[in-house]
Amino acid sequence: MNILIVHAHHEPKSFSSSLANQAELTLRAAGHDVEISDLHAMNFDPVSSRKNFVSVKEPGYLKQQAEESHASKVGGFAPEIEAEIQKLETADAIIFSFPLWWFGMPAILKGWCDRVLASGRVYGGPQLYENGVGKSVKRGIILMTTGGGPSVYSGWGVNPAMDTILAPVQHGVFWFNGIKPLEPFVAWSPAHLENEERVQILESLDSRLKKLFDEQPIDLPPIADFPNWGLDIKNRYVVVVTLKKEPDERFHELVHAEQALLAKWKRQGKLIEFSLGNMDQTEWRAFLTFRASNRSEVTASLPELPLNEYFDFSITELARPNYLENNQ
Ligand SMILES: Cc1cc2nc3c(=O)[nH]c(=O)nc-3n(C[C@H](O)[C@H](O)[C@H](O)COP(=O)(O)O)c2cc1C
Repeated sequence: MNILIVHAHHEPKSFSSSLANQAELTLRAAGHDVEISDLHAMNFDPVSSRKNFVSVKEPGYLKQQAEESHASKVGGFAPEIEAEIQKLETADAIIFSFPLWWFGMPAILKGWCDRVLASGRVYGGPQLYENGVGKSVKRGIILMTTGGGPSVYSGWGVNPAMDTILAPVQHGVFWFNGIKPLEPFVAWSPAHLENEERVQILESLDSRLKKLFDEQPIDLPPIADFPNWGLDIKNRYVVVVTLKKEPDERFHELVHAEQALLAKWKRQGKLIEFSLGNMDQTEWRAFLTFRASNRSEVTASLPELPLNEYFDFSITELARPNYLENNQ
Protein backbone atom coordinates (compact mmCIF):
# COMPACT_ATOMS: atom_id res chain seq x y z
CA MET A 1 0.00 0.00 0.00
CA ASN A 2 1.07 3.63 -0.49
CA ILE A 3 1.34 5.79 2.57
CA LEU A 4 1.85 9.53 2.79
CA ILE A 5 3.24 10.99 6.02
CA VAL A 6 2.84 14.75 6.25
CA HIS A 7 5.05 15.80 9.16
CA ALA A 8 5.11 19.24 10.75
CA HIS A 9 7.78 19.78 13.41
CA HIS A 10 10.80 22.05 13.18
CA GLU A 11 12.99 19.93 15.50
CA PRO A 12 14.15 16.55 14.15
CA LYS A 13 15.01 15.42 17.72
CA SER A 14 11.51 16.21 19.08
CA PHE A 15 9.17 13.45 20.19
CA SER A 16 6.77 14.45 17.44
CA SER A 17 9.55 13.75 14.91
CA SER A 18 10.26 10.43 16.69
CA LEU A 19 6.62 9.43 16.12
CA ALA A 20 6.93 10.24 12.41
CA ASN A 21 10.23 8.31 12.20
CA GLN A 22 8.70 5.33 13.98
CA ALA A 23 5.73 5.41 11.61
CA GLU A 24 8.07 5.37 8.62
CA LEU A 25 10.11 2.46 10.06
CA THR A 26 7.09 0.36 10.98
CA LEU A 27 5.28 0.90 7.69
CA ARG A 28 8.35 0.24 5.53
CA ALA A 29 9.08 -2.90 7.53
CA ALA A 30 5.52 -4.02 6.85
CA GLY A 31 6.24 -3.71 3.12
CA HIS A 32 4.41 -0.47 2.37
CA ASP A 33 5.68 2.31 0.11
CA VAL A 34 6.09 5.39 2.28
CA GLU A 35 6.28 8.98 1.00
CA ILE A 36 7.23 11.63 3.52
CA SER A 37 6.44 15.30 3.23
CA ASP A 38 8.59 16.66 6.05
CA LEU A 39 7.31 20.20 5.70
CA HIS A 40 10.11 21.97 7.58
CA ALA A 41 12.83 19.94 5.87
CA MET A 42 11.17 20.85 2.54
CA ASN A 43 10.97 24.48 3.60
CA PHE A 44 7.31 24.30 2.59
CA ASP A 45 5.75 27.75 2.28
CA PRO A 46 2.35 27.65 4.00
CA VAL A 47 1.16 30.99 2.66
CA SER A 48 -1.44 30.57 -0.05
CA SER A 49 -1.11 32.99 -2.96
CA ARG A 50 -0.81 33.17 -6.75
CA LYS A 51 2.36 31.13 -6.45
CA ASN A 52 0.11 28.07 -5.98
CA PHE A 53 -0.38 28.29 -9.75
CA VAL A 54 1.47 28.60 -13.00
CA SER A 55 -1.85 29.28 -14.75
CA VAL A 56 -4.01 32.40 -14.41
CA LYS A 57 -7.78 32.55 -14.82
CA GLU A 58 -8.57 36.03 -13.56
CA PRO A 59 -5.57 38.34 -13.29
CA GLY A 60 -7.53 41.20 -11.69
CA TYR A 61 -8.94 39.34 -8.68
CA LEU A 62 -7.53 36.33 -6.85
CA LYS A 63 -10.35 33.92 -6.05
CA GLN A 64 -8.50 30.85 -4.88
CA GLN A 65 -11.15 28.21 -5.57
CA ALA A 66 -11.79 29.56 -9.10
CA GLU A 67 -8.05 29.54 -9.85
CA GLU A 68 -7.82 26.00 -8.45
CA SER A 69 -10.66 24.76 -10.66
CA HIS A 70 -8.98 26.37 -13.67
CA ALA A 71 -5.57 24.97 -12.76
CA SER A 72 -7.20 21.54 -12.38
CA LYS A 73 -8.41 21.74 -15.99
CA VAL A 74 -5.21 23.10 -17.57
CA GLY A 75 -2.57 21.41 -15.41
CA GLY A 76 -1.76 24.77 -13.88
CA PHE A 77 -0.55 23.95 -10.37
CA ALA A 78 2.93 25.05 -9.32
CA PRO A 79 5.29 22.04 -9.28
CA GLU A 80 5.51 21.86 -5.45
CA ILE A 81 1.70 21.80 -5.19
CA GLU A 82 1.28 19.35 -8.07
CA ALA A 83 3.77 17.00 -6.38
CA GLU A 84 1.83 17.05 -3.09
CA ILE A 85 -1.52 16.53 -4.84
CA GLN A 86 -0.10 13.50 -6.63
CA LYS A 87 1.18 12.06 -3.36
CA LEU A 88 -2.29 12.49 -1.89
CA GLU A 89 -3.99 10.95 -4.91
CA THR A 90 -1.82 7.84 -4.85
CA ALA A 91 -1.84 7.34 -1.06
CA ASP A 92 -4.00 4.61 0.45
CA ALA A 93 -3.40 6.09 3.91
CA ILE A 94 -2.50 9.62 4.95
CA ILE A 95 -0.75 10.34 8.23
CA PHE A 96 -0.72 13.83 9.71
CA SER A 97 2.07 14.08 12.29
CA PHE A 98 2.21 17.25 14.39
CA PRO A 99 2.37 18.76 17.87
CA LEU A 100 -0.87 20.33 19.13
CA TRP A 101 -0.44 24.09 18.78
CA TRP A 102 -3.16 26.49 19.86
CA PHE A 103 -5.74 23.71 19.88
CA GLY A 104 -4.93 22.93 16.27
CA MET A 105 -2.37 22.10 13.60
CA PRO A 106 0.83 24.17 13.33
CA ALA A 107 0.53 26.82 10.61
CA ILE A 108 2.87 24.97 8.25
CA LEU A 109 0.48 21.99 8.15
CA LYS A 110 -2.61 24.17 7.98
CA GLY A 111 -0.93 25.93 5.05
CA TRP A 112 -0.31 22.55 3.37
CA CYS A 113 -4.07 21.92 3.63
CA ASP A 114 -4.89 25.43 2.38
CA ARG A 115 -2.66 25.07 -0.70
CA VAL A 116 -2.73 21.37 -1.57
CA LEU A 117 -6.37 20.44 -1.00
CA ALA A 118 -7.46 22.22 -4.16
CA SER A 119 -10.95 22.66 -5.52
CA GLY A 120 -11.47 20.70 -8.72
CA ARG A 121 -8.55 18.35 -8.37
CA VAL A 122 -9.10 17.26 -4.76
CA TYR A 123 -12.66 18.30 -3.86
CA GLY A 124 -15.66 20.20 -5.16
CA GLY A 125 -18.96 19.68 -6.97
CA PRO A 126 -20.09 16.14 -6.23
CA GLN A 127 -16.59 15.26 -5.00
CA LEU A 128 -17.24 15.70 -1.28
CA TYR A 129 -17.43 13.46 1.77
CA GLU A 130 -17.99 9.84 0.71
CA ASN A 131 -17.50 10.89 -2.95
CA GLY A 132 -14.31 12.86 -2.24
CA VAL A 133 -10.76 12.06 -3.32
CA GLY A 134 -10.53 9.34 -0.64
CA LYS A 135 -13.68 7.61 -1.99
CA SER A 136 -14.31 6.25 1.52
CA VAL A 137 -11.40 3.86 0.94
CA LYS A 138 -8.35 5.92 1.82
CA ARG A 139 -7.80 6.23 5.57
CA GLY A 140 -6.30 9.00 7.64
CA ILE A 141 -4.62 8.97 11.03
CA ILE A 142 -3.32 11.76 13.24
CA LEU A 143 -0.09 11.25 15.22
CA MET A 144 0.00 14.03 17.74
CA THR A 145 1.91 15.20 20.80
CA THR A 146 0.42 17.57 23.37
CA GLY A 147 1.47 19.81 26.23
CA GLY A 148 -1.63 19.10 28.36
CA GLY A 149 -2.58 15.69 29.75
CA PRO A 150 -5.64 13.56 28.93
CA SER A 151 -7.84 14.88 31.74
CA VAL A 152 -7.85 18.47 30.46
CA TYR A 153 -9.08 17.16 27.09
CA SER A 154 -11.49 14.54 28.52
CA GLY A 155 -14.65 16.62 28.14
CA TRP A 156 -14.59 17.27 31.90
CA GLY A 157 -11.50 19.45 31.88
CA VAL A 158 -11.01 23.16 31.27
CA ASN A 159 -10.19 22.62 27.58
CA PRO A 160 -12.60 21.36 24.92
CA ALA A 161 -12.75 17.57 24.48
CA MET A 162 -10.05 16.20 22.17
CA ASP A 163 -12.73 14.99 19.70
CA THR A 164 -13.88 18.59 19.37
CA ILE A 165 -10.35 19.92 18.96
CA LEU A 166 -9.51 17.38 16.29
CA ALA A 167 -12.80 17.73 14.36
CA PRO A 168 -11.26 20.24 11.92
CA VAL A 169 -8.80 17.52 10.85
CA GLN A 170 -10.88 14.36 11.32
CA HIS A 171 -14.07 15.77 9.84
CA GLY A 172 -12.99 18.95 8.01
CA VAL A 173 -9.91 17.61 6.24
CA PHE A 174 -10.09 13.81 6.26
CA TRP A 175 -13.79 12.98 6.01
CA PHE A 176 -14.74 16.07 3.96
CA ASN A 177 -12.38 14.64 1.34
CA GLY A 178 -13.66 11.07 1.62
CA ILE A 179 -10.72 9.91 3.77
CA LYS A 180 -11.97 7.70 6.60
CA PRO A 181 -10.48 8.88 9.91
CA LEU A 182 -9.03 6.40 12.40
CA GLU A 183 -8.82 7.02 16.14
CA PRO A 184 -6.03 9.58 16.60
CA PHE A 185 -2.76 8.42 18.16
CA VAL A 186 -2.09 10.95 20.92
CA ALA A 187 1.18 11.05 22.88
CA TRP A 188 0.17 13.05 25.93
CA SER A 189 2.69 15.52 27.39
CA PRO A 190 5.89 13.77 26.23
CA ALA A 191 7.99 16.53 27.83
CA HIS A 192 6.92 15.20 31.26
CA LEU A 193 7.67 11.53 30.55
CA GLU A 194 10.62 9.33 31.45
CA ASN A 195 12.57 7.88 28.57
CA GLU A 196 11.15 4.42 29.26
CA GLU A 197 7.60 5.74 28.94
CA ARG A 198 8.43 7.36 25.61
CA VAL A 199 9.84 4.07 24.36
CA GLN A 200 6.56 2.40 25.36
CA ILE A 201 4.62 4.96 23.33
CA LEU A 202 6.77 4.26 20.28
CA GLU A 203 6.18 0.53 20.79
CA SER A 204 2.44 1.00 20.98
CA LEU A 205 2.56 3.13 17.81
CA ASP A 206 4.54 0.34 16.15
CA SER A 207 1.91 -2.29 17.05
CA ARG A 208 -0.93 -0.04 16.01
CA LEU A 209 0.51 0.88 12.62
CA LYS A 210 1.34 -2.74 11.84
CA LYS A 211 -2.45 -3.21 11.67
CA LEU A 212 -3.19 0.12 10.00
CA PHE A 213 -5.35 -1.44 7.32
CA ASP A 214 -7.19 -3.85 9.68
CA GLU A 215 -8.54 -1.12 11.94
CA GLN A 216 -12.19 -0.14 11.85
CA PRO A 217 -12.33 3.57 10.94
CA ILE A 218 -14.62 6.08 12.62
CA ASP A 219 -17.91 6.40 10.70
CA LEU A 220 -18.87 10.03 10.21
CA PRO A 221 -22.20 10.70 8.51
CA PRO A 222 -22.31 10.63 4.69
CA ILE A 223 -23.48 13.67 2.74
CA ALA A 224 -26.27 11.47 1.33
CA ASP A 225 -27.96 11.83 4.75
CA PHE A 226 -28.15 15.64 4.34
CA PRO A 227 -30.05 16.25 1.06
CA ASN A 228 -29.27 19.64 -0.55
CA TRP A 229 -26.89 20.47 2.32
CA GLY A 230 -29.96 20.48 4.55
CA LEU A 231 -30.67 18.84 7.85
CA ASP A 232 -29.94 15.26 8.79
CA ILE A 233 -32.53 12.77 7.54
CA LYS A 234 -31.92 10.88 10.79
CA ASN A 235 -33.41 11.77 14.16
CA ARG A 236 -32.00 12.14 17.65
CA TYR A 237 -33.19 10.08 20.60
CA VAL A 238 -32.13 10.53 24.21
CA VAL A 239 -32.29 7.35 26.24
CA VAL A 240 -32.32 7.75 30.02
CA VAL A 241 -31.07 4.59 31.68
CA THR A 242 -31.99 3.70 35.27
CA LEU A 243 -31.30 0.62 37.39
CA LYS A 244 -34.11 -1.88 37.79
CA LYS A 245 -32.17 -4.33 39.92
CA GLU A 246 -29.24 -4.12 42.31
CA PRO A 247 -25.79 -4.41 40.73
CA ASP A 248 -24.15 -7.72 41.68
CA GLU A 249 -20.82 -9.34 40.88
CA ARG A 250 -21.92 -10.23 37.33
CA PHE A 251 -22.93 -6.59 36.76
CA HIS A 252 -19.46 -5.37 37.68
CA GLU A 253 -17.87 -7.98 35.43
CA LEU A 254 -19.90 -6.68 32.49
CA VAL A 255 -19.23 -2.95 32.94
CA HIS A 256 -16.13 -3.05 30.77
CA ALA A 257 -17.95 -4.80 27.91
CA GLU A 258 -20.78 -2.28 28.24
CA GLN A 259 -18.37 0.65 27.89
CA ALA A 260 -16.64 -1.03 24.94
CA LEU A 261 -19.94 -1.50 23.09
CA LEU A 262 -20.95 2.13 23.71
CA ALA A 263 -17.57 3.32 22.41
CA LYS A 264 -18.02 1.12 19.33
CA TRP A 265 -21.47 2.57 18.68
CA LYS A 266 -19.99 6.06 18.96
CA ARG A 267 -17.30 5.17 16.40
CA GLN A 268 -20.03 3.83 14.13
CA GLY A 269 -21.98 7.09 14.42
CA LYS A 270 -24.92 5.30 15.98
CA LEU A 271 -24.41 7.13 19.28
CA ILE A 272 -23.66 10.84 19.22
CA GLU A 273 -22.66 10.90 22.87
CA PHE A 274 -23.10 9.05 26.10
CA SER A 275 -22.66 9.83 29.74
CA LEU A 276 -22.34 6.88 32.08
CA GLY A 277 -21.74 8.80 35.28
CA ASN A 278 -20.48 7.02 38.35
CA MET A 279 -22.16 3.63 38.59
CA ASP A 280 -21.57 3.46 42.35
CA GLN A 281 -24.03 6.28 43.03
CA THR A 282 -27.45 5.28 44.39
CA GLU A 283 -29.47 7.63 42.19
CA TRP A 284 -27.51 6.54 39.14
CA ARG A 285 -28.63 7.60 35.64
CA ALA A 286 -26.95 7.21 32.25
CA PHE A 287 -27.78 9.20 29.13
CA LEU A 288 -27.33 7.96 25.59
CA THR A 289 -28.01 10.15 22.53
CA PHE A 290 -28.71 8.04 19.47
CA ARG A 291 -28.70 9.13 15.83
CA ALA A 292 -31.23 6.81 14.21
CA SER A 293 -33.87 6.68 11.48
CA ASN A 294 -36.67 5.77 13.87
CA ARG A 295 -37.47 4.82 17.43
CA SER A 296 -37.60 1.09 16.71
CA GLU A 297 -33.96 1.16 15.56
CA VAL A 298 -33.08 2.41 19.06
CA THR A 299 -35.40 -0.06 20.80
CA ALA A 300 -33.86 -2.90 18.82
CA SER A 301 -30.31 -1.87 19.81
CA LEU A 302 -30.81 -1.68 23.57
CA PRO A 303 -31.03 -5.46 24.21
CA GLU A 304 -27.51 -5.74 22.74
CA LEU A 305 -26.14 -3.90 25.79
CA PRO A 306 -24.36 -6.43 28.01
CA LEU A 307 -26.04 -4.90 31.11
CA ASN A 308 -29.49 -4.73 29.48
CA GLU A 309 -31.18 -6.99 32.07
CA TYR A 310 -30.25 -4.57 34.88
CA PHE A 311 -31.76 -1.50 33.24
CA ASP A 312 -34.96 0.36 32.53
CA PHE A 313 -34.90 2.64 29.51
CA SER A 314 -36.92 5.72 28.74
CA ILE A 315 -36.64 7.00 25.16
CA THR A 316 -37.41 10.58 24.11
CA GLU A 317 -37.16 11.85 20.57
CA LEU A 318 -35.54 15.28 20.43
CA ALA A 319 -37.63 17.83 18.54
CA ARG A 320 -36.04 19.62 15.60
CA PRO A 321 -35.97 23.35 16.32
CA ASN A 322 -38.23 25.24 13.87
CA TYR A 323 -35.65 27.87 13.10
CA LEU A 324 -33.34 25.19 11.71
CA GLU A 325 -36.07 23.86 9.39
CA ASN A 326 -36.65 27.41 8.07
CA ASN A 327 -32.99 28.19 7.57
CA GLN A 328 -31.88 25.26 5.48
C1 LIG B 1 3.07 27.57 19.57
C2 LIG B 1 2.71 26.50 20.55
C3 LIG B 1 1.38 26.29 20.85
C4 LIG B 1 1.01 25.25 21.72
N1 LIG B 1 -0.32 25.03 21.97
C5 LIG B 1 -0.69 23.98 22.72
C6 LIG B 1 -2.07 23.67 22.93
O1 LIG B 1 -2.97 24.32 22.41
N2 LIG B 1 -2.37 22.61 23.71
C7 LIG B 1 -1.40 21.83 24.28
O2 LIG B 1 -1.76 20.86 24.96
N3 LIG B 1 -0.09 22.09 24.11
C8 LIG B 1 0.29 23.14 23.35
N4 LIG B 1 1.62 23.39 23.14
C9 LIG B 1 2.62 22.43 23.68
C10 LIG B 1 2.99 21.41 22.61
O3 LIG B 1 1.87 20.70 22.15
C11 LIG B 1 4.00 20.42 23.17
O4 LIG B 1 5.12 21.12 23.60
C12 LIG B 1 4.43 19.41 22.13
O5 LIG B 1 3.36 18.70 21.63
C13 LIG B 1 5.43 18.45 22.75
O6 LIG B 1 5.93 17.59 21.76
P1 LIG B 1 7.33 17.89 21.07
O7 LIG B 1 8.36 17.85 22.17
O8 LIG B 1 7.49 16.83 20.06
O9 LIG B 1 7.25 19.27 20.45
C14 LIG B 1 2.01 24.44 22.31
C15 LIG B 1 3.35 24.68 22.01
C16 LIG B 1 3.71 25.69 21.14
C17 LIG B 1 5.17 25.93 20.83
